[in-house]
Amino acid sequence: MRMILAPMEGVIDHTMRDLLTTLGGVDRCVTEFVRVSDLLLPPRVFRRLCPELNRGGVTASGTPVYVQLLGGKPGPMAENAARAAELGALGVDLNFGCPAKTVNNHDGGSILLREPQRVHNIVAAVRRALPEHVPLTVKMRMGFENREPVMENALAVESAGASELAIHARSKVDGYRPPAYWEDLIPVREALNIPLVANGEMWSPSDALRCREVSGCNDLMLGRGALARPDLPRLVGAAVRGEHIEPLAWPEVLPLVLQYFHVLLENYDARHVGNPIKQWLVYLRHYFPQAAILFEQIKRLREPEALHDTLAADLSSLRDCAA
Ligand SMILES: Cc1cc2nc3c(=O)[nH]c(=O)nc-3n(C[C@H](O)[C@H](O)[C@H](O)COP(=O)(O)O)c2cc1C
Repeated sequence: MRMILAPMEGVIDHTMRDLLTTLGGVDRCVTEFVRVSDLLLPPRVFRRLCPELNRGGVTASGTPVYVQLLGGKPGPMAENAARAAELGALGVDLNFGCPAKTVNNHDGGSILLREPQRVHNIVAAVRRALPEHVPLTVKMRMGFENREPVMENALAVESAGASELAIHARSKVDGYRPPAYWEDLIPVREALNIPLVANGEMWSPSDALRCREVSGCNDLMLGRGALARPDLPRLVGAAVRGEHIEPLAWPEVLPLVLQYFHVLLENYDARHVGNPIKQWLVYLRHYFPQAAILFEQIKRLREPEALHDTLAADLSSLRDCAA
């Protein structure tokens, strides 16, 4: 089984990739998407979204990171993929899943699933442009209006030369409303010769086991669930192997939040560290009630010092309780 950390624009950047992969259980990451329109983008755009390119394309703990591209034109997509490879990307991933209006209006993301031939042409052009040793993977939803086009698109992706396909098991119109339709992946998995990675709505080890059983897919991709429970990839790996490991409890997660705050301060302007911390707490509160309380305490704080003091005070009162 392989576990892939899902790309999440504005949420899982290199700092979060470092943090989550250090906790174990992740075999590969994918960057936020690089938006490709007509131009060959300068190296700095790739290095900003994937600073890991400066150290061999891996996170601090050595997990490979693939660079994701999003766009609707085969030529520019191919040129930019080749550039990502020149800069040292260990793999390139193409996004045919993004539901955002602004993206779809500009002809990229899930709207392309209406035209499997175009999906094929983009994947084929990128494959031709990449050196043979650089893997090309694709991530998509099942369709735009509905889930029916999944098979045609999946076959288009495979015949164009991608080596792996990850499917978020919903249509664009399904949005993020549960459920994810894991069972609809069965015929696709059976029809493909390349590995199919199942994605969508796995929040616990038992969800992940159920998804594997229902879809028949060995490999999984986790997004929001890994933010809500940072040790979820490791827990899922253990569950698949039939082992039991203790899940992280809040007293172990809160220091990670403080550590993340410091990493953000090192990487970003101090004025911009509040939002990612608040955003992470919003995910963490799905699982940890204490995160909801902490979020209420910090949600109106703007100054980094005030944020730091509140996080540190929470941590020290937690330690006092434990002492
Ligand atoms: C805030 C947010 C940003 C996302 N950004 C991307 C992205 O840049 N590229 C992509 O392919 N998918 C993106 N996705 C989709 C996720 O990778 C994933 O397919 C989706 O969240 C379902 O998986 P989950 O239930 O494990 O979260 C994003 C999802 C969210 C919620």
